Amino acid sequence: MSNSGEAELLHTFKGIPFTTRSSPELLKSLDTFDAREDDVLLVSYPKSGTHWLAGVITKLYNTQVTITSPIEFGDISRLEELNKLSSKRIIPTHLDYNMLPPNFKNKKCKMIYISRNPKDTAVSMFHYYRDNPNLPTVDTWTAFFDLFLKGNVVCGSWFNHFLSWEEHKDEKNILFLFYEDMKKNLPKVVKEIALFLNLNVSDNDIQDICKKSSFSEMKNDTEKENSDPSHTVCALTSNRKLIFRKGAVGDWKNYFTPKQNIRFQEIFNEKMKLSKM
Ligand code: A3P
Repeated sequence: MSNSGEAELLHTFKGIPFTTRSSPELLKSLDTFDAREDDVLLVSYPKSGTHWLAGVITKLYNTQVTITSPIEFGDISRLEELNKLSSKRIIPTHLDYNMLPPNFKNKKCKMIYISRNPKDTAVSMFHYYRDNPNLPTVDTWTAFFDLFLKGNVVCGSWFNHFLSWEEHKDEKNILFLFYEDMKKNLPKVVKEIALFLNLNVSDNDIQDICKKSSFSEMKNDTEKENSDPSHTVCALTSNRKLIFRKGAVGDWKNYFTPKQNIRFQEIFNEKMKLSKM
């Protein structure tokens, strides 16, 4: 990070860096958050395709649902607002499994975890660090690469986040998805989500949802003057314009040097020894 003053943008809670947009008081009181049986959690490490998935999910419902602000966003009064919502709640979060309010686990709420190749996630996050005033400045890709591998970035280590959730991937109330699968065959993934959420959708609806969820459609929607650009499902910004950058698989190849790739691969192999995926 280039400026030590910017360290004030982040604080650490239970060993994980958060921005000051997540107040320590709110984080402390998450343990007592009251979940509802029909809550659906939309879980991701930042830059994994959260907004894309959120776009798909809202289009799948034809009843009233609210995509709330992320559960870790804001000060303690936000939790009160969430409690007061009368409609069904789709709650986004970047929390590690271990930090998730226990009530969601006890009530077996449905949870959808979306993951993405960590190399592309790192590149996407690098740009986010550069464009997002809520995050510390990073001068170069090389500097960010080191921070990412050490887990010295907001939301902590990608590896720890993934592993904390992967441990629970076979639980019936958890659906694991991959960004790359959505790129390859979105209708198939949309069907999988509909089945998981017990929603009846026709093939025509699925076609329509996929069309409206393409990168260009979603980016255009955000840029339209009459759209609400101030609602995101990421606790790190409320500016939707920062979300839709390139939407590609494999952009990492434009950033990683061969040496960085080897180093990443070594650390990946070591950390993911525990992974069954
Ligand atoms: P890039 O920075 O690689 O373009 P999140 O929503 O978790 O913050 O993830 C943002 C990433 O998802 C960005 O990646 C963004 O472009 C990509 N994305 C958003 N909507 C998308 C879509 N409809 N199709 C493909 N990628 C999308």
